[in-house]
Amino acid sequence: MIKSLVKAVVTGGAGFIGSHIVDSLINEGYDVIVVDNLSSGRKDFLREAMRSGRVRLVLDDLKNPNGRWVQEFKGADIVYHFAANPEVRVSMANPRIHFNENVLVTFNVLEACRVNGVKELVFASSSTVYGDAKKFPTPEDYEPKEPISVYGAAKLASENLIVTYSIAYGVRSLILRFANIVGPRQSHGVIIDFIRKLRSNPTVLEILGDGTQRKSYLHVKDLISGINVALEVLRSGGKPYEVFNLGNEDWVTVKRIAELVVEEMGLKDVEFRYKPATPDGRGWKGDVKFMLLDISKIKAHGWRPSMNSEEALRDAIRAALSN
Ligand SMILES: NC(=O)c1ccc[n+]([C@@H]2O[C@H](COP(=O)([O-])OP(=O)(O)OC[C@H]3O[C@@H](n4cnc5c(N)ncnc54)[C@H](O)[C@@H]3O)[C@@H](O)[C@H]2O)c1
Repeated sequence: MIKSLVKAVVTGGAGFIGSHIVDSLINEGYDVIVVDNLSSGRKDFLREAMRSGRVRLVLDDLKNPNGRWVQEFKGADIVYHFAANPEVRVSMANPRIHFNENVLVTFNVLEACRVNGVKELVFASSSTVYGDAKKFPTPEDYEPKEPISVYGAAKLASENLIVTYSIAYGVRSLILRFANIVGPRQSHGVIIDFIRKLRSNPTVLEILGDGTQRKSYLHVKDLISGINVALEVLRSGGKPYEVFNLGNEDWVTVKRIAELVVEEMGLKDVEFRYKPATPDGRGWKGDVKFMLLDISKIKAHGWRPSMNSEEALRDAIRAALSN
């Protein structure tokens, strides 16, 4: 086998977004180590990438700072840190899970980068760091950042640790704040929730919140191209770290997503039953009601989404239904 030029580690590489990163790295000629405990990821998401012979799955838990995964960072040119518990609702019901899965794990990953001399890190952060922003679209330098969920707080705390490691230890870092990401292999989120409910009862759909929550959705294919553009900016700019929003320029209500799912499933006369968790109609405590990211920073470097929110959602619904 010809040795490829570079080695990448992807934490959470068996998950929804991580597995698409792995596919893209394989296409670029990387050797890829995936570190995943399969808590929400699936081995079969890596099936195609594994055929290349250049992917190795290390089954381990990043919460363990002495796990064998730490040695796997040796010689890595870049680490994509995508492992997390991405469920905002869980973070409100059980904050400790999120501290451990998001803050502690990020710290462990940074330490593994430091002791193994890894020089480049990409981090999957989130729009939730902005909390209930007062400005739309919300730019990267928006202040004050006041996350309203423990998930958002854990992402912001992780970002702060990463900034310090980039300045103090030379781990050059890309911090990416994602909007809602949709597409093939999605295993959680509003689309999956609606499909599951409608498969068990095709006449009534319970919608968490009052349906007016409005957010921006980005297709995972566009996300990957955005990450690659942002990485070029980091590499050519000479700064210790860069922060980018990655999202779409429009937003869609939860009610509209319900209509799209009903339409794609070929159902008729479905009754929508709204279940607001707060007086102002949120889906759950900690749910940000309106989210639209300002993406002009990344657009200035030539990237733009190929699909708007509704097109991305429709494609993701079709992918989920065909699965
Ligand atoms: N999906 C979105 O809309 C979205 C939006 C903003 C940010 N993000 C972030 O992007 C990243 C990927 O999200 P996703 O939607 O692909 O989620 P996912 O649940 O599909 O993937 C997370 C992966 O991490 C693994 N994992 C979790 N804890 C682990 C641990 N302790 N040790 C080893 N592996 C562990 C899981 O098994 C899974 O494969 C996460 O950091 C998430 O917070 C996602």
